[in-house]
Amino acid sequence: MPKTIIISNRLPVSITIADDKKILISESIGGLATGLKSVHAEENSLWIGWSAIESSEVSPEKREEIDRTLLKKYRCLSVHLDQNEIDNFYYGYCNKTIWPLFHYFPNMTTWEHKHWEVYGEVNRKFYNAVAGQLSDGDTIWVHDYQLMLLPEMIRAKHPNVKIGFFLHIPFPSYEIFRLLPRREAILNGILGADLIGFHTYDYVRHFFSSARRLLGYENAFGKINLGNRLSKVDAFPMGIDYERYNKAGRVGEIKEGTHKLLEETSGKQVVLSVDRLDYTKGIPERIRAFSHFLELNPYYAEKVHLIIIAAPSRTALNSYNDLKREVEELVSEVNGKHGKIGWMPVWFFYQTFTFSELAALYRGSDVMLVTPLRDGMNLVVKEYIACRKDYRGIVVLSETAGASSELSETLSVNPNDSNAIAAAIKEGLEMPVNQQIHRNKIMHERLKRYTVKYWAEDFLQKLDDNDFGSLYSEAIWIKAKDSKSIVEKYQASKKRLLIFDYDGTLTPLCQLPGQAKPTAELLQLLRNVTKDPKTTLLICSGRTKEDMDNWFGALPIDLSAEHGIWIRRSGQEWEQHMVLNDEWKKQIRPVIESYVDRTPKSFIEEKTLGMAWHYRRCEPDQANVRLNDLRDTLMEYIQNENLCLLDGSKVLEVRDVNASKGNIVNLWLQKDEWDFIVCAGDDVTDEEMFSVMPERAFSIKVGTDSSAATYHVKDCNAIIDLLSSFEV
Ligand code: G6P
Repeated sequence: MPKTIIISNRLPVSITIADDKKILISESIGGLATGLKSVHAEENSLWIGWSAIESSEVSPEKREEIDRTLLKKYRCLSVHLDQNEIDNFYYGYCNKTIWPLFHYFPNMTTWEHKHWEVYGEVNRKFYNAVAGQLSDGDTIWVHDYQLMLLPEMIRAKHPNVKIGFFLHIPFPSYEIFRLLPRREAILNGILGADLIGFHTYDYVRHFFSSARRLLGYENAFGKINLGNRLSKVDAFPMGIDYERYNKAGRVGEIKEGTHKLLEETSGKQVVLSVDRLDYTKGIPERIRAFSHFLELNPYYAEKVHLIIIAAPSRTALNSYNDLKREVEELVSEVNGKHGKIGWMPVWFFYQTFTFSELAALYRGSDVMLVTPLRDGMNLVVKEYIACRKDYRGIVVLSETAGASSELSETLSVNPNDSNAIAAAIKEGLEMPVNQQIHRNKIMHERLKRYTVKYWAEDFLQKLDDNDFGSLYSEAIWIKAKDSKSIVEKYQASKKRLLIFDYDGTLTPLCQLPGQAKPTAELLQLLRNVTKDPKTTLLICSGRTKEDMDNWFGALPIDLSAEHGIWIRRSGQEWEQHMVLNDEWKKQIRPVIESYVDRTPKSFIEEKTLGMAWHYRRCEPDQANVRLNDLRDTLMEYIQNENLCLLDGSKVLEVRDVNASKGNIVNLWLQKDEWDFIVCAGDDVTDEEMFSVMPERAFSIKVGTDSSAATYHVKDCNAIIDLLSSFEV
């Protein structure tokens, strides 16, 4: 039975070691753990993560015992991190590089090679943990920024499992993301997944933009075309366990301390702030804005409290300790400035409050201040709203929190604008009850519907749908049995014609025209295949005659260069198949040159009967605009000539209409009575070959684009595999 495997940095349980060395394991109530509860409850599920116990805390025997309990009772498989890994992976790359950068704090971001190295090693460690559990057909859901290399690691070795990835923090704009030294590796790592989820559509856009600009991958209809497969990317705004919060916070459930706190504030209005103590949350800015509010509204002296709850987090990092100090100083400064005997405006708690205590505070406050400088989603705001069964209370919400795109009935503010926050606090405190109810009711409806359970099911359902192939639904992929039948027919045949394009078919596509020389292995393979006198092999390429001659001149194979202008039969001289008329180039060259001048990194390639504008290394948005423009301009020039325009893969070419691979291939087709034909190619020019193939031929398109070929294969490796099975 296929399994569902969830992988996140932390397990959905918290393990504490009591003073008497007793081990206490309890289930977490965090969003992820709650959302995946029903999935994880299934027999066939497993959760892999870091148990977060340091080796110094327990003996190896004890640890084994904990691991056994975790597996048996909680279906959790723990990954152990040693101190070096905790320092360099968790505190290092995760929380000193990715966390600050992805939250738009480049000045707090460090780039240490060691951190990167260990990040890779720990991702590999998680891979090893999951690899031992995997079977074809399983579903794996990888979570968050700690494990961004993992999807690709799994994909490379297990092509027949479904992989989902969800990022719980923002995916930053390209201008920020590009600062990351190993940005391509991170993108490729994530792109190993079939389905990639973010909280908001903005993050989806940013991801598309980085994938396009850094890796050249285009997207259409929410799918990124990776050449040999597609990755779907979508927004799944995480919700909360609405029912739980809506029912929580009844007086009997609250600890005495919180009771007291609520009693103390009775008769006054309460503005509440609840976060992990993190510099992304904008806590100092919030306190300053509250102070500004008191300055602007002296009437509120002795009438309102700001309660700040900040849960300790990542305490081994200086930046977090510095922040704690800054907040403490600010609190005392504001209290010193505005306080009166018997009235301290700001109350600060550096503590983790329990669920029911928080719920009680939510219910007892009038304005909830949620003003992070940047936040992937922010669930506190949703928890606050859900807790208010009475539909009272107003949320002031930062427009840079993911939740802002869903909760438009909150008071939206720029978290850096203390005037705006101060005004929103006032508006919230003074809003008539009927208006509060009206706003909150609308948001309740949304939170009730899109719960965290729904979020998880929605993601897994989309991952399971696996309709990602719809861009190439027409394609028939060559499967093992097809290859077997092709090889059998090959062996039974007496006169075989094998036709191959070169770039993208016999060798991976390369950025520059001057590169992509054939490897010694490929040359040997071609030699071996053509040892059999029954086999004729033709390489039909758009490359220059010189390249073709240098690379393949010594082999007993047929060659065609520059889309058919030049041909060479095995053992004979090159002959020009077409009359050369290149007068038109004098006119066309300056036109394309003017586009090269204005489009950095684009270049011209001149062929005997063609002139091509290459733009694969250009900034994609700019290149697309220029491409449309250039296409229109060239159309005007060529309409009365014997020329055509050819839209290739990141290349636009003007060409003599007669210079077609189809014409050349026809020469070979008509020459003999072939009883076995294979024709393979990847680009638009190869479509001309496919379209002249007789029905009995095996025409094979490399890649996902729609094609006249009968079959598709993922990449050049599949073509090489096929060729290898023809070896003598
Ligand atoms: C954010 C991240 C989580 C992380 C949590 C707490 O919500 O998206 O992946 O677990 O913060 O941070 P910590 O460093 O304690 O795991």
